[in-house]
Amino acid sequence: MTDTAPPQTKAQIELCDAADVTPGTALKVERAGLELAVFNVDGAFYVTNDHCTHGPGSLSEGFLDGEIIECNFHQGQFNVRTGEVVLPPCFEPVKTYPTFVRDGKVCIEI
Ligand code: FES
Repeated sequence: MTDTAPPQTKAQIELCDAADVTPGTALKVERAGLELAVFNVDGAFYVTNDHCTHGPGSLSEGFLDGEIIECNFHQGQFNVRTGEVVLPPCFEPVKTYPTFVRDGKVCIEI
């Protein structure tokens, strides 16, 4: 039997002006019921959930070194490009989102 379901389309959501997140910094953005962290790594933008998977830390308030974010609570680390844990005590990856810039706005697909 042939699958006739239409291709699934993803929603694209504007988060902020790209100029609002300078290289080496992060910005917390709340959209569509999500709390997100927008990171600028040398001009490339990455978006993860803001909430640390280990506890109450806010990744947008952590310390960004290259593409590694250090949580502001227990200093666990994640790669903001892949979401993978780099340093415990975190052990669960943080969710990442496909990210692009359109008309000067940082956008994600969900
Ligand atoms: S809350 Fe982020 S490392 Fe514990």
